[in-house]
Amino acid sequence: MTLPPGPRTPKLVQTAQLLRDPVPFMEKARRRYGETFTARVARIGHIVFITDPPSIKALYSADRDNIVAPGRNAILEPLLGPQSLLLVNDSEHLSRRKLMLPAFHGERMRGYEQVMEGAAEREVGRWPVGESFPLHPSMQAITLDVIMRAVFGVTEERRDDLRERLLLILGATQSPLALALTVDWAQRLGIFRRVREAIAESDEILAAEIQERRADPDLADREDILSMLVAARDENGEGMSDGELRDQLMTLLMAGHETTATGLAWTFDLLFRTPAAMERLLAEIENDDHEYLDAVVEESLRLRPVVMFAGRQLRKPMELGGYELEEGTVVGASMYLAHTREDVFPTPYAFRPERFLDESPDTYSWVPFGGGTRRCIGAAFAQFEMRVVLRTILRMVELRPATDEPEEMMRRNVTLSPRRGTPAVVERRRERVPVAA
Ligand code: HEM
Repeated sequence: MTLPPGPRTPKLVQTAQLLRDPVPFMEKARRRYGETFTARVARIGHIVFITDPPSIKALYSADRDNIVAPGRNAILEPLLGPQSLLLVNDSEHLSRRKLMLPAFHGERMRGYEQVMEGAAEREVGRWPVGESFPLHPSMQAITLDVIMRAVFGVTEERRDDLRERLLLILGATQSPLALALTVDWAQRLGIFRRVREAIAESDEILAAEIQERRADPDLADREDILSMLVAARDENGEGMSDGELRDQLMTLLMAGHETTATGLAWTFDLLFRTPAAMERLLAEIENDDHEYLDAVVEESLRLRPVVMFAGRQLRKPMELGGYELEEGTVVGASMYLAHTREDVFPTPYAFRPERFLDESPDTYSWVPFGGGTRRCIGAAFAQFEMRVVLRTILRMVELRPATDEPEEMMRRNVTLSPRRGTPAVVERRRERVPVAA
């Protein structure tokens, strides 16, 4: 099969580079081989990277014919379960997604504003003044709290127990040892046994929540996403089983927690390095406007797109980036390369929220949430949460970076994460400004 050109180094070297330092690897390949290139990757074989808007549009528009790239299931299935929206394909994916979509409708997100503000306020209340601390773990604490309350709607008496288990599970999935969770014999080792136990215990807590929702006569009045999923019915009047509800909750946790926290940490780093943008944002927040805040979030997700690429395997031959690709080819739309095209985003490496003030981002040039029928279901949730958390924090404290060095991007799972965790210092706490309704 004829594939676009790409680095000729051995497969294992390319795999290691993609895993360790994906951004320099991809930038170099683009410089050398152009906007469409092939990387050779262990387990998968080849990934053809596309980076131009027409090819990205063509790929996402053909989503009914594509399936998720191989490799996702092996790592994620033991934790997410077989019915996870992230893992199922074809008509099963379509029907699950239809059931879940209404709960994530953009308009509904306003209902979570107080939960998001509260989570940020509690976390900021714990920050030291005048000492360096990493922002990234704090953002993780906020996004986990938000998921437990807004998505799981977990009852107060179960919250601490669940948090403890989820932290253990999330910690394990972020270590390079996570792969061992998929290997049977490794389960006998103490550390993995504990993770397995934590999964079983969190499943029990979620099962108790699900039972309570099923028995609740006032289910329709509840605002959390679990309640909506319990109430959802397909065209045959069928709802989700307990097992599927559990799988979708774990999926929302795994897909929504680390990603949003990382997006927030990057936004702070970019604002730290661009004082004029920080000043303009602070002035706007004081006046209760949100145009610049929205643009800051969009620009941050452009320059630091969090997820490296969203892969598909072609089920039919397709022309992409000027190449005839055969059925079976794995294609990855590279968010980072798409977002740093000079022809689409002039001065692409500058953090300039102004570029999105008068113009909304284009669907196939700005793709932090992927696209097509698999576009991130939590995109509106994540963007709204980023805005509310940023606004709440900046209203409460004056922050400065703890070092002069901008953060470097490193891979953590599927995310591009700030290498040092975005160290910051609280200069002073601000007078409490009443939060707008
Ligand atoms: C800044 C934060 C986030 C980023 C950058 C992000 C990015 C992505 C990307 C790139 C995909 C794959 C899209 C594709 O294959 O075309 C995805 C899928 C998904 N995301 Fe997000 N996400 C974020 C937050 C969230 C949140 C908060 C939730 C839920 C509460 C969520 C739930 C999901 C789910 C369930 C999928 C699978 C959708 C499907 O296969 O149909 N994400 N996300």
